[in-house]
Amino acid sequence: MPTLETTVDGIRLPNPFIIGSGPPGTNANVCGKAFDEGWGAVVIKTISLDSTKVVNVAPRYARLRTDKSREIFGWQNIELISDRPFNVWLDELKRLKDKYPDGVVIASVMEEYHKDRWIEIIQRVQATGVAGFELNFSCPHGLPERKMGAAMGQDAGIMKEVCGWVMGAAKVPVWAKLTPNVTSIAAGAEAALSAGCQGISAINTILCVMGVDLETLRPEPTVEGYTVPGGYSCTAVRPIALRMVKECAEVIRDKFAGGRSLSGIGGIETGRDAAQFILLGADTVQVCTGVMKLGYGCVKAMKDEMLSFMAKHKFEQISDFKGHSLRYFTTHADLVRRQAESKATAAANAKAGVVTKDTDWQGDTFVKQSDALASG
Ligand SMILES: Cc1cc2nc3c(=O)[nH]c(=O)nc-3n(C[C@H](O)[C@H](O)[C@H](O)COP(=O)(O)O)c2cc1C
Repeated sequence: MPTLETTVDGIRLPNPFIIGSGPPGTNANVCGKAFDEGWGAVVIKTISLDSTKVVNVAPRYARLRTDKSREIFGWQNIELISDRPFNVWLDELKRLKDKYPDGVVIASVMEEYHKDRWIEIIQRVQATGVAGFELNFSCPHGLPERKMGAAMGQDAGIMKEVCGWVMGAAKVPVWAKLTPNVTSIAAGAEAALSAGCQGISAINTILCVMGVDLETLRPEPTVEGYTVPGGYSCTAVRPIALRMVKECAEVIRDKFAGGRSLSGIGGIETGRDAAQFILLGADTVQVCTGVMKLGYGCVKAMKDEMLSFMAKHKFEQISDFKGHSLRYFTTHADLVRRQAESKATAAANAKAGVVTKDTDWQGDTFVKQSDALASG
């Protein structure tokens, strides 16, 4: 019987399905709901020391749907980090710990480019008993105007410096959440890991413009007639997320001897989606928009789907298939070489009359073909 239980950076998880930072982890009540429904861990909505600087607008989401079934596959948000006061969060994190002593809470934090502020937020949040941290270097909108979020994640040097500050203060595992809005996510992964972070999470949302209303000629989501580019998520981003997770996994394999962790994020809605991220090197998977579409209960089907995938392939635990499919990536030149070799072998077989499938049998070369298949 396969098991979903897994231990990542010393944190024991009942399963690898984690609530991704965003509305589904935005206060203690909803975090509790996630534990009640069976999620393996919750990454809370990103918090900062001074919430008064965080002012959200509405509407702040825009969605793309398929023509016929109207299913949502693309989701833009221009939401900021949590606008709830830091002290309220500290109380709620403590209450969560009391109510769910085994519940794994990862605190997503973000601060301005000041060493003291980063150390303060790590120390004060750590005192509540959280299991780990996720450093948000990746929100693509709003916060970069204050040189936070993706503005830091897009500068590997700054990110490495900030990770170093955090690692000097953190006593629990730290994951750096990377932005996909860069030329090389591998460079970001290497920067964070070489500063000592135990793991990385990828990806945050992809900077986008959802569309322009052809009646009003205004881009969406429209706030008082105006907008800003936002972050794109949901199933449409999954292929891009898979590619970036693969690149992060290769950094961990090649530069850190496989000794760091990876949390895969982006468009995951089923256990089969999740299995693909693990096959490409993820230890855990995070779901944010999927929960906003389907509700917290979707984790039950995800777990069942993952378990049946594992049973089919006789995998007993997550580590049995983590990173398995990375070996099938190669260079284009190698693909060409392999294809030429395979064509040459087929041609040589045909010439020698070698039967490789039953349709190869020919009446006038039947005896020769029989001979070619005989061992003596
Ligand atoms: C409405 C919304 C709010 C989000 N807020 C945060 C946030 O506060 N911090 C963060 O690190 N990521 C945030 N994210 C990004 C998600 O955690 C996730 O990285 C991204 O949406 C891709 O995964 P998904 O397709 O499962 O949503 C947010 C995403 C959405 C849709």
